[in-house]
Amino acid sequence: MQQYSNKLRSEGKSIGFVPTMGYLHEGHISLLRASKNECVVSVVSIFVNPTQFSPNEDLAKYPRDFERDFSLLEKEDCDILFYPEPSEIYPPNYQTYVVVDGITNVLEGQYRPTHFRGVTTIVNLLFNIVLPHKAYFGQKDAQQCAVILKMVNDLRMNLEVRICPIIRESDGLAMSSRNIYLSDAERIDALVLSRAIITANELIISGERNVAEILNAMVAIINRAKSSSLDYIEIVDFFTFEKVEKLFKGKKYLILIACKIGKTRLIDNDIITINS
Ligand code: PAJ
Repeated sequence: MQQYSNKLRSEGKSIGFVPTMGYLHEGHISLLRASKNECVVSVVSIFVNPTQFSPNEDLAKYPRDFERDFSLLEKEDCDILFYPEPSEIYPPNYQTYVVVDGITNVLEGQYRPTHFRGVTTIVNLLFNIVLPHKAYFGQKDAQQCAVILKMVNDLRMNLEVRICPIIRESDGLAMSSRNIYLSDAERIDALVLSRAIITANELIISGERNVAEILNAMVAIINRAKSSSLDYIEIVDFFTFEKVEKLFKGKKYLILIACKIGKTRLIDNDIITINS
């Protein structure tokens, strides 16, 4: 892969890269389409990265369907699928990790303490193999985007990170490979995440600027679902991920939710800009 990318680069061809863990859906495909719009050659990787799962998480049962992914990518005219074996990426003597401080200690980092270390390690490794000019990530994983932007900035990595919008099912549920875990009843309950975000937006549009009030209304919606169990709902500064108590004109924020529906942990978020 690295040799091939070097060849493409020497021919002056731009390389767009979409890292994934497979079990592809329209969210992943939207990233590929963005890459195909902007780059000459588009590479998608499928690698269920063991270092970003903690021992009590779903690594072994993470959904996989290579044949289906392959034909989806073929249909979308993906140029290259990079599909390495775990033993190729992490041979027995593997010893190097990339850690971003600060921003990784809150929210997802608090509930999944080793997660971002695994993400930054694999993304850095994949960047070094694929050598992209541009890499595409989804706003669905808002904190992951912020962590990767921080890594790329801090380490002066020679590529551009592009963030693409969240793709949702028609009823509002953010697409995720993990949605397949949901039973029929849980699939309905899972709508409370996007509904809570809609309610927050409605309150903000109607002039509410007190974060506690907005969060209370959101929690009430989440609690309506029998199978829900909330990890966190927060409104944070878009850039620093620090919690805020009031919303101010001209500022940009993120509403972030992590919630278990039955045994399935789902996340969702939205960007808010206060214009008046
Ligand atoms: P994965 O969950 O497979 O997601 C791959 C990319 O697709 C991520 O950038 C993610 O944010 C994006 N994505 C997922 N659902 C989306 C949706 N509904 N709308 C838009 N984009 C969506 O994220 C990972 O894999 C891994 O952590 C990875 C970066 C590949 C490192 O292992």
